Amino acid sequence: MVLPLIFPMCITFLFLAYNLYNRFRFKLPPGPNPWPVLGNIYDIKPVRFRCFHEWAQIYGPILSFRLGSKLNVVVSNAELAKQVLKEHDQNLADRHRSRSSARFSKGGKDLIWADYGPHYVKVRKACTLELFTQKRLEALRPIREDEVTAMIESIFKDSTNTENQGKPLRVRRYIGTVSLNNITRLTFGKRFINSKGELDPLGKEFRGILSGGRKTNKMNFLAEHLPWLRWLLMPLDKEKSEVMMHNARLDRFTREIMEEHAKTKSKTGGAKQHFVDALLSLKDEYDLGEDTVTGLLWDMVIAGMDTVSITVEWALAELIRNPRVQKKAQDELDRVIGQESIMTEEDFTNLPYLQALAKESLRLQPPTPLMLPHRAKTNVKIGGYDIPKGSIVYVNVWALGRDQAVWYDPQEFRPERFFEEDIDMKGHDYRLLPFGAGRRICPGTQLGINLVTSMLGHLLHHFDWNPPSGVKPDEIDMTEDPGIVTYTSTPLQAIPTPRLSNMNLYKRVPVDM
Ligand code: HEM
Repeated sequence: MVLPLIFPMCITFLFLAYNLYNRFRFKLPPGPNPWPVLGNIYDIKPVRFRCFHEWAQIYGPILSFRLGSKLNVVVSNAELAKQVLKEHDQNLADRHRSRSSARFSKGGKDLIWADYGPHYVKVRKACTLELFTQKRLEALRPIREDEVTAMIESIFKDSTNTENQGKPLRVRRYIGTVSLNNITRLTFGKRFINSKGELDPLGKEFRGILSGGRKTNKMNFLAEHLPWLRWLLMPLDKEKSEVMMHNARLDRFTREIMEEHAKTKSKTGGAKQHFVDALLSLKDEYDLGEDTVTGLLWDMVIAGMDTVSITVEWALAELIRNPRVQKKAQDELDRVIGQESIMTEEDFTNLPYLQALAKESLRLQPPTPLMLPHRAKTNVKIGGYDIPKGSIVYVNVWALGRDQAVWYDPQEFRPERFFEEDIDMKGHDYRLLPFGAGRRICPGTQLGINLVTSMLGHLLHHFDWNPPSGVKPDEIDMTEDPGIVTYTSTPLQAIPTPRLSNMNLYKRVPVDM
C-alpha cells in the first residue's frame, strides 16, 4: 500500500532538500515559488517575454524561476543587461541547448549552439573575417536588390490585378519570399523559387527540411524539462530516430549543393561570393569539419530568414497604424529619390527618417525578444545576486525597449525620438539591443539592417499602405505569437496602392549570381 508512494515522496524530499541547500548557499534572484519537481512550468505563460515583464513588475528587474530543476534568470533593465553582456560576458556566453537543438547541432558543432570556447572562437573568427566583411556584403548587394525589386513587382501585379480589386494582400507571403530567396542565394547560391513564384523540387526539399526542423524542435515541452517523465511522454527511440532522419536529410541536401559548387569552381577556376564557396575555400585554413560547415550554413538560414521578415511585417503594421509616420517617410523618399528612379542601398545615408523608422520598429518589436538563451559557465554575481554555474540567462530586450525609466512615452511609435538622442542599436547602448551585445552579438547585424531598411524603403516608395476596408488603423491586431522568434499572431492584411506614375519602376531588376 505504502510502497508506490515511496518514489514520489523521495523525489519531493530530494527536491526540497536541494532547494533549501541552494537557498542557503546562494543568494538567488527573487521569483515565483517553484513547485516540487515541476518548478514553475505551469506558471509560465506562452508569450514568455510578456510573462517575464509581468513578473519583473512584481519581483524586480532581475528574477529567477525554475523549469523542472533548472534555474532560469531574466534581466529586464539596461544596467543589468550591461552586467550580463559586458562585465560578465565571457562567463555567461555559453549556450543552453535544448535536447533537440543539441541533436541538430551535433552537440554544438555549429556557431549558434556552440559553447564559448576554442571551437566557438575559431568559427566566429571565420564568420567575422570572411563571411560578414563589408566587401562580401557589398559584393552580394545585387542579390538583395534583385529580390527586393522582385517583391515589388509581385505586389504590383497582385494588387493591380482586377480580380483582386479592393481585396487586401497577405503581406507575409511577399516579405517571406524576399527573406527566403535572399538567404538561400547568399548562403547556397540558389534561388529555389521559379519565375512563376513556385518552389522548384530542390526548394520543396529545402522547405521540407525547414518545417521538419521546426516540428521536431517543438517536441514536448514537459519532456524537455522533466527528464524522468520522458520515457512516459515520448519513447526516446522515436524522438531520436526522427532527429537522426532529419539530420541525414539535411546533410544529404547540403552535401549535394557543396559538391555542385566544388565542381563549378574546378571547371571555371574561380569561386563565387556565396557563403558556401567561402566556407569551401576556407575550411582547411580555419580547420572546419564538415559538420561545422553544414551547421554554419543552416545557422544563417535559421537565424537570418525569419528575423528579417518578422521585423518588416511588424514595421509595416506600425506604419499602417501611424499614417503620419508613413507619410513623413514617403515625403523623404520623394525628396531624395524622386518619382523617376528607385532606391538603392547607397541612398540610405540620405534617408535618416527611414533609418530611424527601422530602428523604432526594432525597439518596439525585436524579432528575438529574449535573444537566445545564454548559460553560466561559472558562478557569477549579477545585480548583487548569485547566478550559479549552469543557470540559463535571458535578457528581455523587448522590456528594455519599453522601459519607462529610459524611454519617453515608450509605447508610441515615433522615429523622431532618435533625432532627439542618437541611440546605437549595434550593441553599444544597453537600452536598445535587438541584435544583442558582446561576444555573442548577432554576426548578421549589418546585413539584417540593410535588408530591413531596403525592404521598408521600397515598400513605402512604391505603395501607399492601408488597412482592409472596414478595419480602422488602430484595430490592426498587434498581439504576438509565442516562440523564440515573435511573429504577429494574425498575419498582416493590407491594401497597397501604387504611388509612382512610371510603371517601369515596378519591374524586377534581375541579376544572375
Ligand atoms: C533583423 C534581423 C536580425 C535580428 C534582429 C537578429 C538578432 C539576433 C540576436 C538577438 C541574436 C542572439 C544574440 C545573443 O544570443 O546574445 C542573434 C544571433 C545570431 N544571428 Fe542574428 N539577427 C538578425 C539577422 C541575422 C542575419 C541576416 C543573419 C545571417 C545571415 C544572422 C545570423 C545570426 C547568427 C549566426 C547568430 C548566432 C551568433 C552566436 O551564437 O554567436 N542574424 N541574432
